[in-house]
Amino acid sequence: MNRTMAVMMCGLIFICGVVTAQGADYDHEIEQKGTTFAWKIDGDTLHAKVSAKTKGWVAVGFNPSKKMQDANFILGYVKDGEVTVVDHFGDKATSHSSDEELGGTSDVTVVGGSEEGGVTTIEFTIPMDSGDKYDSVLSKDGDTVVLFAYGPDRDSFKPRHKNRAEVTVNLGSGAVK
Ligand code: HEM
Repeated sequence: MNRTMAVMMCGLIFICGVVTAQGADYDHEIEQKGTTFAWKIDGDTLHAKVSAKTKGWVAVGFNPSKKMQDANFILGYVKDGEVTVVDHFGDKATSHSSDEELGGTSDVTVVGGSEEGGVTTIEFTIPMDSGDKYDSVLSKDGDTVVLFAYGPDRDSFKPRHKNRAEVTVNLGSGAVK
C-alpha cells in the first residue's frame, strides 16, 4: 500500500469512528423536567437517546398502568467511559426488575453513551414489539405514555429518582398531548 492510500484509509476509519460515536440522527425530541428524550422510528426499531444532568443513571419508561407498574424501562449510566444499559419491567408500582430476572429477555442494544460536564447520555435501540411479555408493544399511532427519570450522581441503579416526569406522546408524529 502506498502512502496516499494509507492516508485515505486512515481518513475513512476516522470518519466511520466519528459517525459511530455520534449515534443516529433523531426525528423528534422532548424535554421534561431536565430529561431529554430524542427518538426515531425505523421500521420495527425505535432508536433513542436519553440525557439528563446527572453523573448517575438516566431512564425512560413506556406505558405504565399505574405509577411504575407494568412499564417497560430502559435505564443506563456511564462509568469510566463504559456504557451500561438495562431492560427492566415495572413489577410493582414503586419498583422494577430486570426482564431477564423475571423470566423474560433483554431486548435493548446499546448504541453509545457519554458522561460529560455532569450530563449523562445513553443511546440505544429497542424493537417496537420484542415479543417479550415484559416489554410493552410500542405503536407509531395513538398515545404512548413515556416516563422520564434520572438518579443522583451515583453509577448504580439502586438509588431512586432525583427527578421524574411523564408525558403522553404520539411516537409516530412526535405530537405531545
Ligand atoms: C432506579 C430505581 C428506582 C427506584 C428505587 C424507584 C422507586 C420509586 C418509589 C419509592 C416511588 C414512590 C415514591 C415517589 O414518588 O418517589 C416511585 C414512584 C415513581 N417512579 Fe420510580 N423508582 C426507580 C426508577 C424509576 C424510573 C427509571 C422511572 C421512569 C423512567 C420511574 C418512575 C416513577 C413514577 C412515574 C412514579 C410515580 C409517581 C407518582 O405518580 O406518585 N422510577 N419510584
